[in-house]
Amino acid sequence: MTSGAASGPGATAAERKILLVGASRGLGLGLAKSFATHGWDVVATERSASAGGGLAAAAAGSGHIRTELVDINDPRTVQRLRTQLSGERFDVIFIVAGVSDKDPTRPVHEVALDEAIHVFVSNAYSPICFAEAFFDLLKPDGTLAIMTSRMGSLTLVSTTEDGSWEIYRASKAALNMLTRCFHQRHQHDCRTILLMHPGWVKTDMGGKDAPVDLATSVEGLYTTLINWHGSGKQVFLDYQGNELPW
Ligand SMILES: NC(=O)c1ccc[n+]([C@@H]2O[C@H](COP(=O)([O-])OP(=O)(O)OC[C@H]3O[C@@H](n4cnc5c(N)ncnc54)[C@H](OP(=O)(O)O)[C@@H]3O)[C@@H](O)[C@H]2O)c1
Repeated sequence: MTSGAASGPGATAAERKILLVGASRGLGLGLAKSFATHGWDVVATERSASAGGGLAAAAAGSGHIRTELVDINDPRTVQRLRTQLSGERFDVIFIVAGVSDKDPTRPVHEVALDEAIHVFVSNAYSPICFAEAFFDLLKPDGTLAIMTSRMGSLTLVSTTEDGSWEIYRASKAALNMLTRCFHQRHQHDCRTILLMHPGWVKTDMGGKDAPVDLATSVEGLYTTLINWHGSGKQVFLDYQGNELPW
């Protein structure tokens, strides 16, 4: 699916701008570099300024990346960023930030309450609150993308997936549901809403045994996002462009 919209693939690079949330490392950092390489203006966030860190180095080496600070679990920093960006408009807002519990092999009853709350808040509550706060900064034909996981699919857990990573899996299922609720609240809106699964990727979260390398995932996510940009649909997709069951 492609778009003929003014800010879609046909637009010149200078017209395209993305807000990437959670870009200090891993997939967020990879996406910041990728969108910049494709000529987009990138506003990439991290939780704290990392002098010499991956995002700072990427920004220094690219004329297309600007860094900002936000912790999506901290409403004060979310409000501060919202005020800072109030005069800007984005073609894409991509919320990548997410966490897993320290030992995802534990079943739910072995995870401490505060850790379970942290995972649910970070992966489900805060991304949607962030989306709501920044949705009006998205152009009328823009795309809101949120990083989820196929582990959040209720259909796949009983077919192709085992039931491990219980708290993480449940938090992504909650994210998927809240994204559907968000879509219902904005059902007369023409903007595209994508829930995206990056594959099992070699990052701090995915680990070294993950079968998908960062570059493959990031380029697949980029291509898939561009293909759906301007469609006005709400879909659950993987990095290879496949639609996933809820
Ligand atoms: N890797 C995989 O195989 C895989 C598979 C499916 C889905 N995902 C999803 O993809 C996304 C990125 O994962 P990753 O593998 O790149 O993980 P990662 O390497 O652990 O990076 C996580 C990123 O999220 C940021 N973050 C965490 N909590 C945040 C908060 N409260 N506010 C702002 N930023 C926050 C981290 O910032 P700090 O550096 O400050 O901690 C970091 O930039 C996550 O949503 C994850 O669930 C990953």
